[in-house]
Amino acid sequence: MSELQAKYLIDYKQPDYTINHLSLDFQLNIPTTEVVAVSQVERKSKQATQLVLEGDELELVSVKINGQSATHQVKDKQLFIEAELDNFELEIITHLKPAENTALEGLYMSDGAYCTQCEAEGFRRITYYLDRPDVLAKFDVRVEADKAEFPFLLSNGNLTAKGDTENGRHFASWQDPFPKPSYLFALVAGDFDLLEDNFITRSGRDVKLQVFVDKGNLHKAHHAMESLKKSMKWDEERFDLEYDLDIYMIVAVDFFNMGAMENKGLNVFNTKYVLADKESATDDDYHGIESVIGHEYFHNWTGNRVTCRDWFQLSLKEGLTVFRDQEFSSDVGSRPVNRIQAIQVIRNHQFAEDAGPMAHPIRPESVIEMNNFYTVTVYNKGAEVIRMMHTLLGEQKFQAGMKLYFERHDGQAVTCDDFVAAMEDASGVDLKQFRQWYSQAGTPTVAVNESFENGSYQLTLTQSRPEIAGNNDLPMHIPFDVELLDAEGNSITSKVLNFTEHKQTFTFDGLEQKPVVSLLQDFSAPVKLEYQYEDEHLAHLMRYANSEVARWEASVSLFSKAVWDNVKALSEGKTMQLNSIVQDAFKGVILDENLDEELIAEVMSVPSISSLVEQVETVDLDALIIARRFVKDELAVGCEDEVVARYHASKGKDNASARALKNECLAWACVANEEYEALVETQYQSATNMTDSLGALKVSSDLNLSNRDSLMTHFENKWVDTPLVMDKWFTLQAIQDSEQVIDKIKALTTHKAFSFNNPNRVRSLIGSFAVGNVEHFHKADGSGYQYLTEILKKINTINPQVAARIITPLIQFSKFDQGRQQHIKACLQELMALPDLSKDLFEKVSRALA
Ligand code: TRP
Ligand code: ZN
Repeated sequence: MSELQAKYLIDYKQPDYTINHLSLDFQLNIPTTEVVAVSQVERKSKQATQLVLEGDELELVSVKINGQSATHQVKDKQLFIEAELDNFELEIITHLKPAENTALEGLYMSDGAYCTQCEAEGFRRITYYLDRPDVLAKFDVRVEADKAEFPFLLSNGNLTAKGDTENGRHFASWQDPFPKPSYLFALVAGDFDLLEDNFITRSGRDVKLQVFVDKGNLHKAHHAMESLKKSMKWDEERFDLEYDLDIYMIVAVDFFNMGAMENKGLNVFNTKYVLADKESATDDDYHGIESVIGHEYFHNWTGNRVTCRDWFQLSLKEGLTVFRDQEFSSDVGSRPVNRIQAIQVIRNHQFAEDAGPMAHPIRPESVIEMNNFYTVTVYNKGAEVIRMMHTLLGEQKFQAGMKLYFERHDGQAVTCDDFVAAMEDASGVDLKQFRQWYSQAGTPTVAVNESFENGSYQLTLTQSRPEIAGNNDLPMHIPFDVELLDAEGNSITSKVLNFTEHKQTFTFDGLEQKPVVSLLQDFSAPVKLEYQYEDEHLAHLMRYANSEVARWEASVSLFSKAVWDNVKALSEGKTMQLNSIVQDAFKGVILDENLDEELIAEVMSVPSISSLVEQVETVDLDALIIARRFVKDELAVGCEDEVVARYHASKGKDNASARALKNECLAWACVANEEYEALVETQYQSATNMTDSLGALKVSSDLNLSNRDSLMTHFENKWVDTPLVMDKWFTLQAIQDSEQVIDKIKALTTHKAFSFNNPNRVRSLIGSFAVGNVEHFHKADGSGYQYLTEILKKINTINPQVAARIITPLIQFSKFDQGRQQHIKACLQELMALPDLSKDLFEKVSRALA
């Protein structure tokens, strides 16, 4: 079978053999590391004669069964072993080259430390194995390396022995008492600064907590440690879940493909989600760290104790764990602000994925490269699906469902369906129709019609969804949250409608006047709404809706409508205009003293171009950019005095909400009038934290103020040796509005702080150009597309996972004009013709061209 062939969920079969215990012995050396893997194998299917193991980029040294050399054959990344025994010991010796591993999968070097990344299928780059999540083994690991260079030798579970060996080397032995799939294995060897603490669990277990960071960064590890302790406590209180080992380790590494990895007892993190101090990290960074630390910790139960049967079930652990980390952030921080940010991820990214060539259900049915399915659909739409169940069941029954899920499946590898069944059985709520959310791709649309007669208000909802292979036309179960308000803004009623048919009418009787309706409150389902709002209606909701999320929603709709009205005006050759109702509604929010400042900042941040694109079928991108800028500028000019007043009022306050509002106000002020550049200069020069200095720098760079170059240079000189801060600088360079931006980016790829081998650098410079610089990336002459293609060719061979991630903006814009589409197609064909095209890019490019 060619490795470019898709695998299908319907083809799932239990393995013929399983492995109950694995001993791994690592002799860590550069250039060649030796791995001795001894498996206790059990034959499950008695007629099986051949054990088939997966392996990749390995040098096979020997294969033995019960101490005797075994008959075997290697073919297409698989090892076939004759094995007509019910129980046997299998010993495999392999050689690896960690220093040459730039894909950062399997065992690799990050800045002088050995580390591993095994999810999803990286363990097969360490040894030949049954590298699939439904094979659960107890692991014993022995690691040996040079003592001076690698004083810390870490793996999963508990340390059982350590000591010196010969030639300045030492070893450590680790035992993980919990059976686990290979993707949760981890090993780290290096020299670090270590921050230690402890946590006493509810039942009195004293857990040692360790955070390992690059030398010299100890002072930046405290927020991560506090976040870990908060997570442990929260999971006990809200989910009744306690930690289960005596030690919990977190290692921060510079070279990492994703955010972090939940390996049992030994999480490996991207430094971006660990290191922080006030001078170098923004409030958003602090928030991101807390949420990712929480996310990985919560995986200990949802992912590790109960894992996935196969990779098609990824959302079983990821959707659920994102839901849990969102709830954590909401319980310890601002619920409405967290909800708004989650909604934005769906609208800015997930809707586009679901409308593009990579559209897939949260439980995909066919996969070529699993790494391509760690997506906003599986993660974030998956979390929305869990959230809908939470809405339908309520907290108490949902928690009863969680309890039953663990009672039934602790220690097992299970399916999404097992999860839903537990929810259903514990609650008595019928989720049969609801299960459709797991199998349907694309974003459903709900069209809303209303009527009012004789005190009776009727809402008629109609649902539809895109025709995508694998979709059926049965209606979905959509929890649809509505609130009715009267003309004075008082709430008449608020409830969640069970919208389960293609078309359904809901009646509200006994009303004195036609109500003002607030639809899909709290984004109660991940759908698009079709409803003809009037400006007055939205302004009313912005002012009076009960929930803050609904008020923000109304601002999004009002802004969007103003943009589309002006796109239309442009196409008809009319002059653009902004209704004073819109102006007043935004002014009202900006002046509102009772609203959380961060919420006002969210309203002021106005919808992104990509979220606007997702609201329509086809779009004139140039007109959209002009109209959006027009509306933004008009609002800023109209609110100049208010914004400046709030800027000064927020200045003295030392909290994240005030800083968020202050930075939005500064941006609006400078859009209104460049004379506020003085405020930018002062804020930058007197800043005592990164949120303030970066906020000022961003305004200067985005608006190309006259102090831009001097501030950018100052920042560069100050931070050139702090990679995570330079990422912020690279991003500002990449999203600047300049005709020369591509040449500037090209020049920056030779900057001493840049490296194509480091995913964070590539994402901050190249990724943010493609995602965040819509105007120049999507330039009509195709130059942006060509530049990304050039880079992709290079990264394809260095790190296929990173290449496949940053290609996203090139495959998601089928709504644009023919000219742009032609340019995109030519680029994709060029990639398709590469002789060494990775599986990762192959899957995306071929789907985009199909
Ligand atoms: N399971 C990880 C998480 O959600 C995701 C992850 C980390 C990952 N590193 C990876 C997925 C590498 C694929 C490849 O927290
Ligand atoms: Zn996860």
